Amino acid sequence: MLNVLVLHGPNLNLLGTREPDVYGTDTLADIDFQLTALAEEQKIAIRIKQSNSEEALIESLHSSREWANGVLFNPGAFTHTSVALRDAIAAIDVPVVEVHLSNIHARESFRRDSLLAPVCIGSISGFGTNSYMLGLQALKTHIK
Ligand code: DQA
Repeated sequence: MLNVLVLHGPNLNLLGTREPDVYGTDTLADIDFQLTALAEEQKIAIRIKQSNSEEALIESLHSSREWANGVLFNPGAFTHTSVALRDAIAAIDVPVVEVHLSNIHARESFRRDSLLAPVCIGSISGFGTNSYMLGLQALKTHIK
């Protein structure tokens, strides 16, 4: 059985009402529901966490080593700022796929750079809720 930790970063708890023109109208619960259904179908065990705190996300990455074979991570705005999260991903021996709902390369210039992408196995950006589904499939294929 494959074990995957899904990590949602800051402000993603507000999906549904947060800038729907950019992020769509699915709530985080909608995304988690779809992820859970796909995971069940693919025989993947998933655990899902959301945090607005960089510290909590670092702790989750560290503890993923105890259970997860892979991490699906939407780091939100920390993508563009956090050396500490980059170091956490580099420090753990667990493959991480970076996902974004929006296409970060087609937005403001400060979003075009990801400090985390170089230490992730790959990044998926711009497909809305489907970015997570594609990310889960990519993680499964990579681990197998
Ligand atoms: C995001 C993109 C980030 O630039 C932004 O700060 C977010 C969401 C996305 O999923 O498109 O919070 O990670």
